[in-house]
Amino acid sequence: MADTTDAPRAVWAFEEHQHRELVHGINRLHDYACDVANWAAPELSVHLKEILGWIDRDLEPHIAWEESWLYPEIDSRTGTPWATRAARFDHAQIRTMAGRIKTDRDALAKGAAHEHLAEVRCHMFGLEALLRAHVEREERYLIPLLANDDWATTTDALPVGAKASSEAG
Ligand SMILES: [Fe+2]
Ligand SMILES: [Fe+2]
Repeated sequence: MADTTDAPRAVWAFEEHQHRELVHGINRLHDYACDVANWAAPELSVHLKEILGWIDRDLEPHIAWEESWLYPEIDSRTGTPWATRAARFDHAQIRTMAGRIKTDRDALAKGAAHEHLAEVRCHMFGLEALLRAHVEREERYLIPLLANDDWATTTDALPVGAKASSEAG
């Protein structure tokens, strides 16, 4: 049976827990972007593959959960779709920049010139900046909305396994 008494805290904790996990990936993205000039194209391609894997495995599911459940819930509670409009736009920009990095990796795999590396670095730093700003925007302006006492949902809203991770802090 669902636990309804601690639903706001559980959802809030889950979001913060996920953000802490995402920051590890964002930091790795930053480190790789700093080192782009030191790598040959094949080596860079391997690191880009790792970044793209992180996007598919960790980042995209987080975004999908927010868009399918968290944001609609916040929109419903505030009575306006404008509550999450900017955050949804952030997601679109994040996906666009991630798509550019995928295109970069495909180009490198096809033997793109070394001059392309500067472009790759721009896209990696661009994605880092988008993600850091977005995470801060959610934590400052969206997650606090979960503290409302009228919260009427249950921890069933969390993805499988999320309840345990949110409780773990
Ligand atoms: Fe988000
Ligand atoms: Fe988030």
